[in-house]
Amino acid sequence: MARHEAEPSAPSGDSPMHIAFAASECVPFIKTGGLADVIGALPKELVRQGHRVTVYLPAFRPVAAQLGGKRTVLAGSLTIPFAGYNRFVMAVDGGSRDGVQYVFLDCPALFDRTGIYGDVGGDYPDNWERFALFSRAVLEASKQLGVPDIYHAHDWQAALLPVYLRTVYAQDPALERAGTVFTVHNAGYQGWFSPETTERLLLPWDVYRMDRLEHYDTVNFLKGGLVYADALTTVSRRYAEEIQTPEFGYGLEGTFQQRAADLLGILNGVDYDQWDPSHDRYIAAHYGPESLGRKAECRRDLLHAFGAPDLPEQTPVLGIVSRFATQKGFDLLAAIADRLAQRRLFLVALGTGEPYYENLLRSLAERYPDRFAVRVQYDNTLAHKIEAGSDIFLMPSRYEPCGLNQIYSLRYGTVPVVRATGGLDDTVSETPDPREGTGFKFHDYTPEDFLLAIDRALAAFADRDAWQALMANGMRKDYSWKQPATEYAALYDTVARKRS
Ligand code: ADP
Ligand code: GLC
Repeated sequence: MARHEAEPSAPSGDSPMHIAFAASECVPFIKTGGLADVIGALPKELVRQGHRVTVYLPAFRPVAAQLGGKRTVLAGSLTIPFAGYNRFVMAVDGGSRDGVQYVFLDCPALFDRTGIYGDVGGDYPDNWERFALFSRAVLEASKQLGVPDIYHAHDWQAALLPVYLRTVYAQDPALERAGTVFTVHNAGYQGWFSPETTERLLLPWDVYRMDRLEHYDTVNFLKGGLVYADALTTVSRRYAEEIQTPEFGYGLEGTFQQRAADLLGILNGVDYDQWDPSHDRYIAAHYGPESLGRKAECRRDLLHAFGAPDLPEQTPVLGIVSRFATQKGFDLLAAIADRLAQRRLFLVALGTGEPYYENLLRSLAERYPDRFAVRVQYDNTLAHKIEAGSDIFLMPSRYEPCGLNQIYSLRYGTVPVVRATGGLDDTVSETPDPREGTGFKFHDYTPEDFLLAIDRALAAFADRDAWQALMANGMRKDYSWKQPATEYAALYDTVARKRS
C-alpha cells in the first residue's frame, strides 16, 4: 500500500466499513495459539462481505523476517511518548492478501527479540511498554494511513488502544468518530503490571481506580479494554456467561457483569481453506464424508511420523494438539494415565509450553512407549497430520473460551472428547445414541469423569457403523466464518452508528 492509497476506497455491500484490527498474532505471520488463526481468517471473510480491513501487528522478529530485504515504509517515525523519553515506531507495509491490508509496527528495541512474549527467563519485564507502545502506535499509524470506522482490539496485548483513545486522545478531532470493539480470547491472561505503569505510560492518574485499570494493586491491561471499549465480545456464547462467574472470570467477573449489556459471545469460525481434509496440503490422503476409507492412509502416515508401528484398525489412535498449559487439563490426563495404559489405544500428543507439563508428557511416553508418544515442539504440519490421522481427539480443558482444535477435529472425522466448558460445550454434542451426536463430553472437572467419557468413546468406536455415523455428523457441520463475520459486522455497525 502506498501512502496515497490510504484513503478509504468504496467497497460494495450494504454498509461497508473500514475496520482496523490490532492484535499480537496472525496466521501466516506469527502464531502461538488460536488467536492467530482468528486474526488470520476473520478479516478475509469481512473483506469478502464488502468491508475494508487493515490488520496491525507488532513487527516481532519472525514477522519482520518475512519481508526479507524488501521494506516499504508507510510512516517513517511515529512518536510514542513515555515518561521522560520518546520511542519511534516505523509502520511497514506487510502486503495485502485476499484483500486484507497488513501493517507491521516496528520498534526493534522492543520487538526484535528471540521470543514473542518472553523467553526462557519468563515473560519480558517490559511487556507493559512493548504492548502499550503497540496499541498507541496503531492509533498514530492509522491517523496517517486511514482512520477506520472501528478499531477492533484483541486480548490484553491490544487492550490499551481503547484506553488511549478515550483518555489522552479524547480531544483528537481525527479520531472522535472512531468506535472500538474489544474481544477477549482468554480471560486467564490479563497483563498485570506495577502501579507506576500508568505514570510511565503518561496515562491520566485517574485511570488507576478500582472501576478502571486498577486491580488488586496492579495495573490490569485487560480490565482497561473491558472498561473503555464501546462493545465487548468473547469467542463463544457459553464463555460469555462463564466469565461473569468467579470460576472463570479470573477476578474480573465483576467487571464482566457490569458490562454484560455490551458483551456478546460470538463463536469463532474456522478457516476451511486451511483446515479441511478434502484439500489439506499437509496430509497423506484427501477424504470427506463419502470417502472415509482414505482416512486410514492418514492414520498410517501419522503413526509413521511418530515413529510408531502400524496398528490394527481396532486400536483407536487418540490425538492431542495443545499449548501445554494449566488451562488445557493435563493434570486430568496425568491422573488417568495408568488406567488409560490398560486400554487398547495409542495416544499421540503434540505441544509446547510449561516445562512441568512438557516433562509430564515426556515421562508418560517413556513409561508406556507402546501406548503414548509425545512431541514437544511447535509443528504445524504435524498438527494437521494429527487432526487427519487420529480417530479420537482429546480436549479436557479446565476452561476453553472457544477452542479451535475440536472444530477442526469435527471436520476431519476425528471424534472429539471434551470437557463441557466454553466453546467446547457450544460445538460438541453428545447424545444417548452416539449415531446422533458429534462427540463425547464430561461436565465435572475430575479424572473419573474424563475417563468415563473416553470409555464411552472407546465403546462407540468398537461399533463401526455407529462410529461412521458419528464421524459423518461432525464432518457435515459448518463452522465457517460466514455467520460469525456477519455478526461482527452487525456489531461494528451498531457501534459506528452510536458514534456518528
Ligand atoms: P489456544 O488458542 O488456547 O491455544 P485453540 O484451540 O483456540 O487454543 O487454538 C490452538 C491453535 O494452535 C490450533 O490451531 C492448534 O493447531 C495450534 N497449536 C497449538 N499447539 C501447537 C503445536 N505444538 N504445534 C502446532 N500447532 C499448534
Ligand atoms: C484463546 C483461547 C481459545 C480460543 C482462541 C481463539 O487462545 O484459549 O479457546 O479458541 O483464543 O479465540
